[in-house]
Amino acid sequence: MHVLVLGAAAGGGFPQWNCNCSLCRGLREGSIEATPRTQSSIAISSDGERWLLCNASPDIRSQLAANRELHPRRIPRDSGIGGVLLMDAQIDHATGLLSLREGCPFDVWCTPNVHQDLSSGFPLFTMLEHWGGLNWRPIGIDETHLEAEFEVPACPGLAFTAVALTSNAPPYSPRRGAPTPGDNIGLLIEDRERDKRLFYAPGLGRLDVRVRSFLRRADCVLVDGTLWHNDELIRAGVGQATGADMGHLALAGAGGLLEELADLPADTRRVLIHINNTNPILDERSPERGTLDEASIEVAFDGMRLEI
Ligand code: MLT
Ligand code: MN
Ligand code: ZN
Repeated sequence: MHVLVLGAAAGGGFPQWNCNCSLCRGLREGSIEATPRTQSSIAISSDGERWLLCNASPDIRSQLAANRELHPRRIPRDSGIGGVLLMDAQIDHATGLLSLREGCPFDVWCTPNVHQDLSSGFPLFTMLEHWGGLNWRPIGIDETHLEAEFEVPACPGLAFTAVALTSNAPPYSPRRGAPTPGDNIGLLIEDRERDKRLFYAPGLGRLDVRVRSFLRRADCVLVDGTLWHNDELIRAGVGQATGADMGHLALAGAGGLLEELADLPADTRRVLIHINNTNPILDERSPERGTLDEASIEVAFDGMRLEI
């Protein structure tokens, strides 16, 4: 399968428009070695022609422009996007649907929780009815179903399994602070013919037995690299929320994601995505980035291509 990283940053992007943290400032001033990143989105394809967009970010316009695979090629109004899948209902993952309005109707895969938030607190499904609408393709994750298998016509030969993750619901959700299964998912994407598996989870708040088993099954993991320290926003003086509040497990520290990644089978490719602009790993000369290099953990960047 082919994977295009359209945007590797968390909400806000890197640099974030109003952020004067040392990394955003260092990038603007050219005083650190770092690359700008747009907000969180990837595209997946089995044939290299039709792509499933996983998350529609507020930066989608520039992301589509930067990736020729997604350009119109066949008929007067066209796109390489053959469907959209949402991992959650957050602004950085869903807002791009508004920019896709000229191409409606789109098939949109998401859970009932996400569909509910995007029909009420952030009513994209409702608004876009005026442009031809979005065809909701339910991913059947709820209180009683913590895993759901499905197929996506645009990706023949790939089998998709969604798994409920514990993270958080968006601020405009009635479940903010008390998420239920379906507010956030991880995705195992399998090319059964080639016997290859990708596990994608840009918002991972907690590791449990189920998530660990998905991580272990994958040839490549593309997972939550939002924060290095749980209290990183507070340390940087840019906010009060911790990673735990936001539903992102920090990389460093006891019980952090780095420990888990170190435990995966040696031949697993490990890639971090959804990197917040306060995360020191964005500075390519930082000791934290050195720690990742030593552990063979990669940091996704816009335009990164993975062949799995
Ligand atoms: C998150 O995942 O918590 C976000 O990136 C929030 C946001 O988009 O502001
Ligand atoms: Mn996010
Ligand atoms: Zn910043």
